[in-house]
Amino acid sequence: MDLGLKDKKALVTGASTGLGAAVALELAREGASLIINSRSEERLEKAADKIEKTTGVRPQTVAADIATEKGLALVREVVCQDNKKGSVDILFSNTGGPPPGQFLALPETVWDESANLLLNSAIKLTRMVLEGMIERRWGRLIYLTSISVLQPVDDLLLSNTYRAAVTAFCKTVSNNYARFGITANCVCPGYTATERLQNLAQKWANDAGKTAEDILKGFGEGAAVKRVGQPEELAALVTYLASERAAFITGSSIAVDGGANRALI
Ligand SMILES: NC(=O)c1ccc[n+]([C@@H]2O[C@H](COP(=O)([O-])OP(=O)(O)OC[C@H]3O[C@@H](n4cnc5c(N)ncnc54)[C@H](OP(=O)(O)O)[C@@H]3O)[C@@H](O)[C@H]2O)c1
Repeated sequence: MDLGLKDKKALVTGASTGLGAAVALELAREGASLIINSRSEERLEKAADKIEKTTGVRPQTVAADIATEKGLALVREVVCQDNKKGSVDILFSNTGGPPPGQFLALPETVWDESANLLLNSAIKLTRMVLEGMIERRWGRLIYLTSISVLQPVDDLLLSNTYRAAVTAFCKTVSNNYARFGITANCVCPGYTATERLQNLAQKWANDAGKTAEDILKGFGEGAAVKRVGQPEELAALVTYLASERAAFITGSSIAVDGGANRALI
């Protein structure tokens, strides 16, 4: 299937490891040119090496913390270098996750930090790329959220709160800009094997007096398919949503969770 991505440029944030790295690699395999971002230059260059080794094309890299204005300004310089309105056709908006914890255990400052990390980064990245998409009458906005949007996860209060806001933002943007050939969708991973999942499993194991392996096994058992996901499984959906073929899918939040969510829709 030709996904029509060969002349498209994608910005993938949080792309040095985990879900973002898998999305960047898959888009590059389909021929999209890439700008990839994460905070650590070293980890980002390693991800760029892997993409170059697999596809023969090296992505542009921009090491920056997109939870900060300074970091966003660095990304903007790269995104808007050819065209003031930005030359990005596909945005995959993603960062690391917020700390786990219940309300009284979380310091007050973490609320603003997590708003910047999860919600404001998505809004500001959208502002960076949207005008160029409108000018070219084509765009794909794809926001990483979580199955916590479908059913809140007890120990992930910050994720539950801000990802719901990203979902509302995405839905409204999808309605407002559909007439310009722009789609906006959220992808909602269930438990997927990444560094983040390993860290969460360790924290919850410590809380419960269990091992991280026990917790990971429990994550898998909670899904209908009886395993956790692989980052490539989310990347396959994102790549499809980024494609020409997905022009009629907009304003949706799509779970990639192995059937963990038991709701009808
Ligand atoms: N894995 C799961 O089971 C799962 C399920 C639902 C939702 N999620 C969510 O999906 C997102 C990605 O998860 P993951 O599992 O792939 O996590 P991960 O393995 O920790 O990867 C996070 C990526 O984001 C980058 N990053 C973190 N903070 C950043 C910032 N402020 N600015 C720019 N880049 C940043 C990290 O690289 P640097 O360290 O170099 O910055 C890394 O490349 C997270 O928000 C997570 O909460 C994950």
